[in-house]
Amino acid sequence: IPAIRERPPMPPTLILPRPDDFHVHLRNGMVRFLATPFTAEHFGYALVMPNTRPCPILTAEDAMNYRRDLMQYFPENKDFHPLMSIQITDKTTPDMITGTKAIVTAGKLYPEGVTTNSDNGVRDFKRLYPVFEAMQKEGLVLCLHGESPDHNISGLNREAAFLPQLREIAIKFPGLQIVLEHITTHDAIREVESLPNNVAATITAHHLWITIDDIIGYSQRSQGKLRPHNFCKPIAKHEFDRQALCHAATSGNPKFFFGSDSAPHPVDDKECSRVCAGCFTSPVALSILAEVFERMNALHLLEDFLSVHGKNFYGLPPRMNAKKITLIKESWVVNGSTSADWPNADYRRPILIIPFLAGETLTWRVT
Ligand code: NCD
Ligand code: ZN
Repeated sequence: IPAIRERPPMPPTLILPRPDDFHVHLRNGMVRFLATPFTAEHFGYALVMPNTRPCPILTAEDAMNYRRDLMQYFPENKDFHPLMSIQITDKTTPDMITGTKAIVTAGKLYPEGVTTNSDNGVRDFKRLYPVFEAMQKEGLVLCLHGESPDHNISGLNREAAFLPQLREIAIKFPGLQIVLEHITTHDAIREVESLPNNVAATITAHHLWITIDDIIGYSQRSQGKLRPHNFCKPIAKHEFDRQALCHAATSGNPKFFFGSDSAPHPVDDKECSRVCAGCFTSPVALSILAEVFERMNALHLLEDFLSVHGKNFYGLPPRMNAKKITLIKESWVVNGSTSADWPNADYRRPILIIPFLAGETLTWRVT
């Protein structure tokens, strides 16, 4: 009698509505060509950051041209919907805000010099109050990189030092929707929770995964070595903060939703003596989130974090016909790099981008 072969049990599967990414850097030039497909493949709405170089996105016209340009990379993909932001600088005027809602979703404000491509950032926030007023009227969301630009404050304390600034703006402009971007600390979570409902925050996948010791080579996982591909701003903080972020993301509180802050850089800018801040997380973010939510016994809340809270805060309609996304519980090893030749004299070599967690094994895979 032939042995009856039992069918192996199906691995656990998660089928989710298409997730949204409310903070992503798609860049321009060659990096854009490499990075954009990863976001377009898995996400529905994506709020695209304006800190491109050499030309930042400063006006509605810039945003429109940038969007048109990005659309080349997914002409057939009706499921992906980039939302555009403009950068708010000292040169932004209320006139540049009025009448832009059809094109622009948000204004992104960087304090001066706090992160990659923020040399044109702001020091005196009060001077921008007329611009915030116009944003409030127009219905644009204000996205804040929440770190103090004060060089006398240690990098690890810059986010906490920014919180009074956030409070002041939130109270002064109660009708202005404000997102504190990529929060990293217990203090920021408590502040966002305690402020009125015009304030929300994005949380990245990498800040749920690593601490500062995984960057500077003090954790077991880092094997004692400095890890430039884990370096971003705001820099990941302590285990206590990471745990607070995991609790906030899985709490079901609608003030917290996903923004990857996926920020690709060519390998030469990550493996060198002056390392650029930014982790390229688009290829791994959903796998990380599934693992984190599973560990927190909160897989049933993943959908809210990924595709409900953000849309609600931004007042965006659900996209009923967009393709769903399936994750299965199956180990996979993250690709070492993504690369392409670029027929352009600017780039002498094929360009290479190393994803976050390259070479490591994750337990949930997007099919
Ligand atoms: C971002 C980048 O590279 O553009 N870098 C980062 O470390 N997150 C900028 C930013 O969002 O801070
Ligand atoms: Zn960012």
